[in-house]
Amino acid sequence: MQETIREILKEARAALEGVKSAADLEALRVHFQGKKGRLTALLRGMGELAAEERPAMGALINSARETISEMIELRGIALRKAERVLRLEAEAVDVTEPRPVPSVGALHPLSMVLNDLVDIFVGLGYEVVEGPEVELDTYNFELLNLPKNHPARDAQDTFYIEDNIVLRTHTSPVQARTMLARKPPIRIICPGRVFRADEADATHSPNFHQIEGLLVDRNITMADLKGTLDAFARGLYGEGITTRFRPSFFPFTEPSAEVDLTCMACRGAGCRICKGTGWIEVLGCGMVNPKVLDLCGIDSSEYTGFAFGIGLERIAMMKYGINDMRFFYEGDLRFLTQFR
Ligand code: DAH
Repeated sequence: MQETIREILKEARAALEGVKSAADLEALRVHFQGKKGRLTALLRGMGELAAEERPAMGALINSARETISEMIELRGIALRKAERVLRLEAEAVDVTEPRPVPSVGALHPLSMVLNDLVDIFVGLGYEVVEGPEVELDTYNFELLNLPKNHPARDAQDTFYIEDNIVLRTHTSPVQARTMLARKPPIRIICPGRVFRADEADATHSPNFHQIEGLLVDRNITMADLKGTLDAFARGLYGEGITTRFRPSFFPFTEPSAEVDLTCMACRGAGCRICKGTGWIEVLGCGMVNPKVLDLCGIDSSEYTGFAFGIGLERIAMMKYGINDMRFFYEGDLRFLTQFR
């Protein structure tokens, strides 16, 4: 029996060395010390021994049991330590590792230019007003002194939805809507998308953007218009940029002008962008036609006003040196990411 105990101890020692996990260790404990374990079996077999041998054998078995308990405990401590080291290694974070650069979106160049323009006019006391893109013929044409069959309607290649419903060809209908709804003084700008049945090429697009401006009050003159547009030109491109008025015609203004800005690429010296003239055409304007004031419920004997319509794409193309309008609408990231 002593021999068996020695064997069991030897076996336990060898087995413990091979143990790799807490679960293995528990299995081993059951194997040696559990109810069906080998030492328990020995204790049970004591009945067959002579009475005087029993106390010594019992003591021997119990001491073996304790030895194995200690070995299991020590092995358990070592195992938990090793597992902890492994876990810490696995959980280690390299706090010096550079993080991946997040990809950040950017404003569309037209939005940036629009924001600039809105800032300038809001600074001059204007309010932003918007109107519908699908518009009634009345607002888009009639109230702006463009009755049916007026020849000037041909200049705007209109998309018709129905006989009396169009995709607005300019932002001017917002003028009519505002004058009908409010009393002077009126100081508004109306940014928005407009539509014309044009073939897309470097300088045309079936949809583009305008900013309409309207000011109505007592004693407003063309000098106020000129001063306002000069302030706009300087606000946009800085000192040294000015405006040049050329006589023109719009049914909704009288007199009317087309306005050039000093070419910002060459500051007026003449270059490829301005075709050597030093000027770039960016807007139409004029004194609101008294007929339009009256049609929109404002007494033209008491009030005068000026209006202007700025082409947003033109301004953005000049500002960023973009030579083809189609870039704005194609969504090509190689183009768009240049404006961050
Ligand atoms: N509505 C004109 C166009 O689209 C632009 C314009 C010209 C607007 C003169 C105005 C203006 O308010 O006074 O061509």
